[in-house]
Amino acid sequence: MKGRDLLSVADLTGEELRFVLKTSLDFKARYYLGEVLLPLLRGKTLLMIFQKPSTRTRISFEVAMKQLGGEVISLSWHEMQLGRGETIADTARVISRYVHAVAARVYNHGDLIELAKYASIPVINALSDVEHPCQAISDMLTIWEKKSRYSGLTIAFLGDGSDNVLHSLLLAAVKLGNNFRIATAAGYDPSKEIMKVAEEEADKAGVSIEMYRDPLEAVRGVDVVYTDVWVSMGQEAESERRIRDLSKFRVTPEVMSLAKQDAIFMHCLPAHRGYEVVDDVIDGKWSVVWDQAENRLHTQKAILALIM
Ligand code: CP
Ligand code: NVA
Repeated sequence: MKGRDLLSVADLTGEELRFVLKTSLDFKARYYLGEVLLPLLRGKTLLMIFQKPSTRTRISFEVAMKQLGGEVISLSWHEMQLGRGETIADTARVISRYVHAVAARVYNHGDLIELAKYASIPVINALSDVEHPCQAISDMLTIWEKKSRYSGLTIAFLGDGSDNVLHSLLLAAVKLGNNFRIATAAGYDPSKEIMKVAEEEADKAGVSIEMYRDPLEAVRGVDVVYTDVWVSMGQEAESERRIRDLSKFRVTPEVMSLAKQDAIFMHCLPAHRGYEVVDDVIDGKWSVVWDQAENRLHTQKAILALIM
């Protein structure tokens, strides 16, 4: 993976994805033993560019870099000349002379592709309108820790079927051998391109991807119930329509009671409490959301170490 971009989960083979997860588990164990991984990225700098707000991604990447002995520079798009119209291509050429990798959070996935085209350093997707690969990789680690397997598990995603986190999670889950169910409203189906890749991966792995319009049917007997916000960053103008169309996909204790007895509830956060999930679920016995958030640190350390 050295020197490679990570724009999509599809950029990784199943074997590479497993290797990132194994490395993450190893790094996490060492972290709890108090071992420092300092020499790994000494002398290396990661640039982070944000077009949108971030709590988990920014902090976990910064801490990850520091724990690996490297340096980080985090800037918003508008602090850079990008905000005044300097092209992505020119920016890519310049930053490639200063830093060793760049992680960017953007509105349009095409901007990441442009950045990667002109940068001679690795580009990591820190969330775009299409994917959030670092989140999905981290979530697969959490599922492994909670369930000790992938094979035979079924994950149900309820809510916005065109969500960036869902796209990445779907790709990662089927690649690793999980069955996947998506419950969403008409007009909110996943991207056709992502579905095509996911279906090919699912065929290879011998697992299923099923679409549902009824959330209660979708969660029956599943191992994992996952949701994300109905209104993603950049979609604020569509809030009213999205909330109206997706409100029947809210994760409540009644919904969770239809899943397996030992089912877990997952959310990438930030949560819009009372909308896609109620307090009794996110704060309840099913919830593993804080472990999910923690795992961003461990998986990103692995991603950075392997790529840089
Ligand atoms: N889950 C996630 O990426 O959170 P932030 O938007 O806070 O980075
Ligand atoms: N789908 C959400 C994820 C946030 C981490 C968004 O894009 O706003």
